[in-house]
Amino acid sequence: MAKLSILRYPDPRLYTVAKPVETVDDRIRKLVADMAETMYAAPGIGLAATQVDTHLQVVVIDTSEEHNDLRVFINPVIVSADGMAIHEEGCLSVPGIYDKVTRAERVTVQALDADGKSFTLEAEGLMAVCVQHEMDHLLGKVFVQYLSTLKQSRIKNKLKKRVLETM
Ligand code: NI
Repeated sequence: MAKLSILRYPDPRLYTVAKPVETVDDRIRKLVADMAETMYAAPGIGLAATQVDTHLQVVVIDTSEEHNDLRVFINPVIVSADGMAIHEEGCLSVPGIYDKVTRAERVTVQALDADGKSFTLEAEGLMAVCVQHEMDHLLGKVFVQYLSTLKQSRIKNKLKKRVLETM
């Protein structure tokens, strides 16, 4: 396994639309293992392949407190969604920035697991937020794009300043 580097907003590669995985093979399982290691090390509760500059429809999520419940979503599709909920979100690609985003309260997602087996998950609460947030990454969308353009430019300036400070 290897830790991967995470793209930082506003890196234009984050706007890439991910392609479906054709075959869940060892190459994909290695990607999943590396993504999980990267997510746990960050630490974070979700990571999309887009964020590690691999433009395939692969997401890993672990919302458990003990960090022992890894969920893998390959080629995920939301088959139903209802309700509306507002949660404060953050993102490993937008470090230190948190803001409120409105999303569906509950979603039913269909995907393949790391063995290539199809499964359906009914998600609510944090898992529902996470699934929608990570699936947005696969569409080339970062959560700050839901915020006002003023907020977005403030966030860009803040992140740019921080990069300069750490150089
Ligand atoms: Ni994110």
